[in-house]
Amino acid sequence: MELNIRRPRRNRQSAAIRGLVEETNLQVSDFILPVFLIEGKNKAVEVASMPGVYRHSADRLLDEIGYCLDLGITTFDVFPALSEDIKDRYATEGSNPDGVYLQTLQRIKEKYPEACLMTDLAMDPYSSDGHDGFVENGQIVNDISVEILGKMAVAQARAGADIIGPSDMMDGRVGYIRQLLDAEGFTNVAIMSYTAKYASAFYGPFRDALDSAPRFGDKKTYQMNPANSREALVEAELDYAEGADMLMVKPALAYLDIIKLLNDNYNIPIAAYNVSGEYAMIKAAAQRGWLDNDRAMFESVLSIKRAGAKIILTYFAKELAVLLKSR
Ligand code: PBG
Repeated sequence: MELNIRRPRRNRQSAAIRGLVEETNLQVSDFILPVFLIEGKNKAVEVASMPGVYRHSADRLLDEIGYCLDLGITTFDVFPALSEDIKDRYATEGSNPDGVYLQTLQRIKEKYPEACLMTDLAMDPYSSDGHDGFVENGQIVNDISVEILGKMAVAQARAGADIIGPSDMMDGRVGYIRQLLDAEGFTNVAIMSYTAKYASAFYGPFRDALDSAPRFGDKKTYQMNPANSREALVEAELDYAEGADMLMVKPALAYLDIIKLLNDNYNIPIAAYNVSGEYAMIKAAAQRGWLDNDRAMFESVLSIKRAGAKIILTYFAKELAVLLKSR
């Protein structure tokens, strides 16, 4: 029998050799854990469509962050879930220094100065319209939104944010925010831009968690069409030129090609957001015994890193940290 002399199986024959030739490694320092904040005290409410993910009141969130820091998780993306009566069409609460969101950021920083805090910058958690931008006559008005977002960004920096994450997809916001932050002396506050954020079905469980679904229409006039990849390069070019420090792709798993595209074309770190729906799919299948939770989780997050994302925002961060420790 004449077989080819090249036998790829030789490099797979033992755990030691597989380890030597392994190209991609997940590390706990790659992860950002998104966390949900609710009003009140001593509350931890599980998100129905995201088993294992809770909405915490500030006191409980502080405990949670302490626990995560012990696991080696360094960075947290904090999202507020606010009651309806606090929302208005200008998303005023978003830059209220006495509001629960900005107050909680401050409390986290006071208790854990070593924790790196990322914020989500968009109007939806504070907007009575549930859109990421300002609504007038059924339209999302770009430039007014950018002004509101600028105010929010400065307020977040003042409250202690280390990384601002504009997730709104308005045009020109990165440059505007950079200017304002610098003018206010926050030159060290970074911007991780949601560069290629697609109008995706996979945000469903997150909108349940925050009760932030748009009150009318959809987000297709600002979030990208899932059919497009070259357009991601246009967004990246703008965000890079406007001063973004890191470029994010969102969602992650259905957009691995976009992660690779940006990683091949830009020399700043690429991040990817392993979103709520991607988490929910694995959890739902695992609960039924149809998938092995740990293996499916590890493999899907690994694929995001292999595609080119150095930074991964994932609800699996805690479970992954525990798994990585035990290996
Ligand atoms: C909103 C925002 C969304 C997510 C992060 N920031 C939802 C949306 O755009 O409707 C989704 C995150 C997830 O699904 O895990 N600015």
